[in-house]
Amino acid sequence: MSIKYQSQKIAEYFYTFAVVLFLVQVVVGIIAALQFIWPSFFILNFNTIRTLHINALVVWLLTGLMGATYYVVPEESETELWSLPLAKLQFWATVVAITAVVLGYIWMGLNPQANSPIMGITPLNEGREYIEAPRWADVLIVISVLLFLFINFMTMLKTKKWTGIQGTLIGGLTVLALMYLPGMFYTKSMVKDQFWWWWVVHLWVEGAWEVIAGALLAFMLMKVVGARREVVEKWMYIEVGFVMFTGILGTGHHYYWIGTPGYWLWVGGIFSSLEPLPLLFMVWDAFRTTREARNVENRAGLYYTVAHAIFNFVGAGLWGVIHTLPQINKWTHGTQITTAHGHLAFYGAYVLLVLAMIYITLPAIRGVKAFNASRAFQSFWWMTISMVFIVLTITGAGMVQVYMERLMGLDYVAVKANYNMWFWILRAIFGVGFLIGVGIFVIDFFRLGKEPAPAVTAAPERL
Ligand code: HEM
Ligand code: HEM
Ligand SMILES: [Fe+2]
Repeated sequence: MSIKYQSQKIAEYFYTFAVVLFLVQVVVGIIAALQFIWPSFFILNFNTIRTLHINALVVWLLTGLMGATYYVVPEESETELWSLPLAKLQFWATVVAITAVVLGYIWMGLNPQANSPIMGITPLNEGREYIEAPRWADVLIVISVLLFLFINFMTMLKTKKWTGIQGTLIGGLTVLALMYLPGMFYTKSMVKDQFWWWWVVHLWVEGAWEVIAGALLAFMLMKVVGARREVVEKWMYIEVGFVMFTGILGTGHHYYWIGTPGYWLWVGGIFSSLEPLPLLFMVWDAFRTTREARNVENRAGLYYTVAHAIFNFVGAGLWGVIHTLPQINKWTHGTQITTAHGHLAFYGAYVLLVLAMIYITLPAIRGVKAFNASRAFQSFWWMTISMVFIVLTITGAGMVQVYMERLMGLDYVAVKANYNMWFWILRAIFGVGFLIGVGIFVIDFFRLGKEPAPAVTAAPERL
């Protein structure tokens, strides 16, 4: 395995930053879990820890996807990146901006007054879940993303070898960038504010990001099992078409109870119930293509790719659809059922996607012929089994919560502090299991290709 174009190596910069933030995300996740058991544990409060956990998640997934794109576009366009120095600048600017934002959150956690408005703008935290970054950072992020899109677009223009994969990828990324903007409106009405904020959160993960996942799935299937371009691209168009058909109006499942007109109950319920369909197509696509495969060189890459397709369907599709009808969401809205779905969906759809892309492209970037995949499998099982149990545990907590709080009318804190305690303890234990998996992955990331491959993987038929 080796790269065709030297500038593809820039992907490794982005991956490295992503991997470090992944570790940070999971460590703070465990602190958050312990705070459910001991609320005053740690110097930073739960609100700061939670912000760090979910923002680190979003940012590392985005940087991971940027790295993956810088790898895919030169390969598909059959040329070097339009400007490597500019791509490096974009990387370092992103690192500096994100680090400043993270330090700002921590600073605010230690000194809440530090976020007092300056000329009506809060300087450290905007307080919008998942996209809490302050206004100055929003501007830097927009510039960085525009630069990123520009570099890739210019690369594509160099040779004009328009392929479906590269077009879909850049299309998804462009919509991703555009969808950041509704999160920057300020309105006095909470209803309107929430209305726009959901465009970012929902149309990202159930729209633009799923389109990107469709394009990368096609790319990965070509890479690992040598699937034919015409076939994977045809399926990609079907998947991506259905994602948009169901996902765009599916936004309605967040409009049930925020003060929007009643027709959203129908629109949201119907379209979001169909959202699992394209995700199921992706599973079928992965299985069918894999069945036809003969010589698979990169087993770790294949493993992660198929797991991504499966858990995207289970986490986003199944754990999403169970609470998406208004008749059910009326009871489950904003409970631990939501949290359970949030974890499995993000893990399956995007964590595994970025890790799959890393396992497929990193060996080539490092010029490795064959690598020992045992750490990749170990980390996969530690992470996946732990995540499944975290999700089952909090789904249980959510069921108890819905029953006691919404049906019996018990107080929120009473349920959380007494009746759900065992669930929190179990979640923290499985959280440590997940951290072990991440630790193994991080070691593997930094050592891959830097130690001799064992005889098994170096067997002639695998070379
Ligand atoms: C990869 C795709 C997806 C990701 C990453 C994802 C993630 C999330 C997250 C993090 C939340 C919590 C938001 C919050 O209130 O803070 C959420 C809410 C929700 N998701 Fe998803 N989701 C995905 C796909 C889906 C799909 C396909 C469905 C339906 C079939 C769905 C149904 C829902 C519903 C109904 C809620 C609102 C829950 C409530 O009322 O509290 N999601 N999702
Ligand atoms: C890659 C793995 C992980 C992903 C993708 C992830 C994702 C998320 C998301 C999307 C949320 C917000 C969901 C919501 O409130 O609806 C969240 C909250 C949270 N996560 Fe994670 N997380 C991961 C790992 C962990 C781990 C290992 C732990 C520790 C056991 C953890 C503990 C928490 C806690 C305690 C919250 C706050 C939940 C609440 O407000 O009720 N997470 N995580
Ligand atoms: Fe949604």
